[in-house]
Amino acid sequence: ARSSLKVLVTGAAGQIGYAIVPMIARGVMLGPDQPVILHLLDIEPAAEALNGVKMELIDAAFPLLKGVIATTDPIEACMGVNIAVMVGGFPRKEGMERKDVMSKNVSIYKAQASALEKHAAEDCKVGKPLNSPVLVIANPANTNALILKEFAPSIPEKNITCLTRLDHNRALGQISESLDVQVSDVKNVIIWGNHSSTQYPDVNHATVQTSSGEKPVRELVSDDKWLNAEFITTVQQRGAAIIKARKLSSALSAASAACDHIRDWVLGTPEGTWVSMGVYSDGSYGIQPGLVYSFPVTCKKGKWSIVQGLKIDEFSRAKMDTTAKELVEEKSLAYSCLN
Ligand code: NAI
Repeated sequence: ARSSLKVLVTGAAGQIGYAIVPMIARGVMLGPDQPVILHLLDIEPAAEALNGVKMELIDAAFPLLKGVIATTDPIEACMGVNIAVMVGGFPRKEGMERKDVMSKNVSIYKAQASALEKHAAEDCKVGKPLNSPVLVIANPANTNALILKEFAPSIPEKNITCLTRLDHNRALGQISESLDVQVSDVKNVIIWGNHSSTQYPDVNHATVQTSSGEKPVRELVSDDKWLNAEFITTVQQRGAAIIKARKLSSALSAASAACDHIRDWVLGTPEGTWVSMGVYSDGSYGIQPGLVYSFPVTCKKGKWSIVQGLKIDEFSRAKMDTTAKELVEEKSLAYSCLN
């Protein structure tokens, strides 16, 4: 029998936490043959609710679930984990300045970086045998990931990513709805940059599988105006639209996207398909190194690599630079909060 993988979920008593833990326990994240032990972390005010989540996990009698640790101690939570899904964060409340939210969150990620660095499984720290994923979901996701990376220097930078797969999936969904095709037939959209409203959803390389072969989205959608304006803003503003409708932010779609992110990273992307992941920039596409920026990536044997050589037109260039600029500003704001 395979040995269990220990999966950390922080903020596990929250909305996304509640949606993602049953997915992980059912094998959606790591496959139907991979047993898991869940390490759930939240903070003291949520301790009772967290215990309730643990009770429900026991009651669900998931065959793959070999254990649950529910704790408010970051050290106990990080102990020996192979995969870390960082959902815990401080939400923006009415009247709060951006800087206040930033300050709360980067302090959390700085502290948790140390706990992970000291206590995660060796493979998480040296990148063996899997690339031992760390996925940051909590906002500001790119900048939290950057802080985590910088304050956990012994964890390889390749192991630390942030979630933009939800935006990627939203873009697939919009194309599928607009062309009335199956979402599984649409691929290779790209989310560039920040998980924020400056992100650039790019369809210039996206295709649809049709009965007469693979066709570029640009060829199938005759309305350029829609692709260049409304499509982009719909994807950028989708999070706000969900909050308006549900009075709560996206949770099931975020949890599902997080499972897609880790699954593709660990098990590999299908041949000819790329996905979007927030990763540490190596300077590809002229994006300043030292930012966590969303790129198109393919994954194989637990390692991601940025898709190279895509043609970038002027329209795209400007949008890719705008979102990079915002990340530079966030980075300096984050550091000014920590000092
Ligand atoms: P939520 O407020 O329901 O849950 C957050 C949980 O984190 C709470 O239970 C809270 O007690 C806990 N928490 C706070 N500080 C913590 C700490 N220091 N350690 C451990 N846990 C802590 O929020 P929800 O809806 O689950 O969203 C979580 C985060 O994910 C938010 O920051 C949200 O903005 C972000 N998000 C990101 C998306 C993405 O695509 N990257 C998509 C949707 C949400």
